[in-house]
Amino acid sequence: MTTATANAIVSRHQSAPLSTTFAETFEIRPLDAPLGAEVIGLDLSQSLSNADFARIHRAHLDYHVVVFRDQQITPAQQIAFSRRFGPLQIHVLHQFQLPGHPEVLVVSNVVENGKPIGLGDAGHFWHSDLSYKEKPSLGSLLHARELPAKGGDTLFANMHLAWDTLPPALQNAVDGLRAEHTYLARYAELQQRSPWRPNLTPEQIAQVKPVLQPVVRTHPETGRKAIFVSEHFTTRIVGLPEDESRDLLDQLFAHSTRPAHIYRHQWQAHDLVFWDNRSLLHLAAGCPPGLRRVMYRTTIEGDVPR
Ligand code: SIN
Repeated sequence: MTTATANAIVSRHQSAPLSTTFAETFEIRPLDAPLGAEVIGLDLSQSLSNADFARIHRAHLDYHVVVFRDQQITPAQQIAFSRRFGPLQIHVLHQFQLPGHPEVLVVSNVVENGKPIGLGDAGHFWHSDLSYKEKPSLGSLLHARELPAKGGDTLFANMHLAWDTLPPALQNAVDGLRAEHTYLARYAELQQRSPWRPNLTPEQIAQVKPVLQPVVRTHPETGRKAIFVSEHFTTRIVGLPEDESRDLLDQLFAHSTRPAHIYRHQWQAHDLVFWDNRSLLHLAAGCPPGLRRVMYRTTIEGDVPR
């Protein structure tokens, strides 16, 4: 990131209320993994000073996943913190919004009175959030409200590393190409696995028209290149015969999610995990049947990928 960009980003947030309570006292510890850092000693129920915000912002760009430990925050506080990074996006499945807080998507396998309270199979396939929108998510924040005694992990794959380690012939073959992303790509398949998934109304379908995205995007703040296709939402590479497109996508999917690129997050009580959708794919490993998992997700709108 250039200094000018960093200054522009910090100044965008200078109207936020100042608090000195936690200034510079918290610790940012890189994880022993190809991405990720944890933040210890910061209370996000308080508003952040601009200096603290700038440290968190920098850590998010450097590590791509920031794990805030022990955050006993309300949905309104999660929304307020998320908004510091940009406008929030409302998920097309309005059925799973948190009542009173449409910015919060409930991700949960819990069924109450015969009705699912949340999107139980969110993240079943590797993806980058909302890559099917013209402006996909900059980042997402997932807050652990109720965790199972085992399972329920989330995996993150570093798409900058995936690009950097892609064989040069494959880099040359895909750089500059565009691919179609659509929310509907695997919706019917997911409905078969999870019959509680609602049929989409014509209004919902109109909100998720297919879009074209670069196969390789440049991170708007760091300038790093990243592979930007996923097994969940990417259907084809534009301008290639179907078999060639399928073959290239399969190679990219397989390479992207190699173990060397992955951090597996094992949730602790009250974790708030903030990831960068411009740098990563993620996957929910799944929750064992009979155990409860309740998570609240906010997503921040990003740029048009280039
Ligand atoms: C998601 O894909 O946003 C959900 C991830 C998870 O539940 O672990």
